[in-house]
Amino acid sequence: MIFVGQSGDGEQVYLDATRSRAVFICGKRGSGKSYTTGVFLEELVERDDVLVIVADPMRNFHTMSLPNHEQESVLWNWGLSAKGVPVRLLVPGDPVRRYGKDVIEIFEGRGVQVESLRVNPGDIPPDGWLDLFGLDITQPMGIALYRAVQKCRDQSGTHFFIPDLIDRLQRDPQIRETSVQALVLRLETAANEWDIFSSRYREVGEVFVPQTVNVIDLGLLEISRFGLRNLVLAVLVRDLFRKRRDARLREELGLPSEIPKVWLAIDEAQEFVPAGKVALAKEPLIQWVKEGRQPGLSLILASQQPGAVDREVLSQCDVVLCHKVTATDDVDSLNRLSHDYMARELKVYLKQLSRTGEAIMVDDSRERVDVVQIRPRRSKHGGAEL
Ligand SMILES: Nc1ncnc2c1ncn2[C@@H]1O[C@H](COP(=O)(O)OP(=O)(O)O)[C@@H](O)[C@H]1O
Ligand SMILES: [Mg+2]
Repeated sequence: MIFVGQSGDGEQVYLDATRSRAVFICGKRGSGKSYTTGVFLEELVERDDVLVIVADPMRNFHTMSLPNHEQESVLWNWGLSAKGVPVRLLVPGDPVRRYGKDVIEIFEGRGVQVESLRVNPGDIPPDGWLDLFGLDITQPMGIALYRAVQKCRDQSGTHFFIPDLIDRLQRDPQIRETSVQALVLRLETAANEWDIFSSRYREVGEVFVPQTVNVIDLGLLEISRFGLRNLVLAVLVRDLFRKRRDARLREELGLPSEIPKVWLAIDEAQEFVPAGKVALAKEPLIQWVKEGRQPGLSLILASQQPGAVDREVLSQCDVVLCHKVTATDDVDSLNRLSHDYMARELKVYLKQLSRTGEAIMVDDSRERVDVVQIRPRRSKHGGAEL
């Protein structure tokens, strides 16, 4: 059970996290979405049977390694104490190149384990490559790249790398020399500048470790708008899904499995599951919420624009934590999440919110709606505005 906070009548509010859940956290800017996400992560990281991962585009979560000394008196009132949690910071590419040595030293001094994160090229499906380079299957270059990826897959499964792909292109008799050169150049540039492709196959089990908040620093990737952030998340999500599906079968047969259940939190979720737009991570995330319950895949999505989040994903969320919202559009799109068991429409409840850290919690499993004061964080919250 996750201790979330206290309801208006002084009752402690918990979320049943013994089974898979899909949680949507929303509210306007500065209303407490990231803070609340951190509360969930603090609770989950105590467990030894789940992997806790947070996709962090705004760099709000590395501070969790530090105790929340600023709110010690509030914590005291709640019978809690300030305490940091183990944090592993996963950095796309080379951490030294991305941050600089001095930054890494400070992180390490704070007990943050900094690791490089690179994705396996072989985990990206052929159409993922086309999306990545903005190519279309109707163009000669698109066809050539698609065919090269497909051939690498036929030959090596998921164990192939950028040089293998380049080699394939160069040996393809059906494409023009200039197209080959253009594609090779793009691949080489991607490999060097983006620096997110692995040159050896890495299992997800090497990347994420239990009893640690595994923070993926997506704030580093800004090139090609959100394409790269999406790519990194898409590959990991797909891989975790596959691994858990296999693990679930093994567990059912009483065999040891490779990875535990997963709780994945995504801040600024509208970047990854946008409404009415394509994004590389969208399809794997839709699969995660729709088919992930059984293999033990849970999701926490935080976003300030509920209307900008894919409706199919929203409709799968069985817990909604809604902090203060003001924009009419946002209130309207949230109101669609009202349920039969609620005495009033969600927008009526939303009017009751006044303080920071307060949220309306709609929990399908309890069929209840509560005004909840979210408990204070034990670990330091990052991302306060300057
Ligand atoms: N439950 C809470 N208890 C105390 N302070 C909170 C709580 N939730 C949010 N805050 C305060 O509000 C600020 C903004 O919260 P944050 O989660 O960063 O907003 P956002 O919704 O933009 O992600 C935080 O820096 C923190 O000081
Ligand atoms: Mg935030």
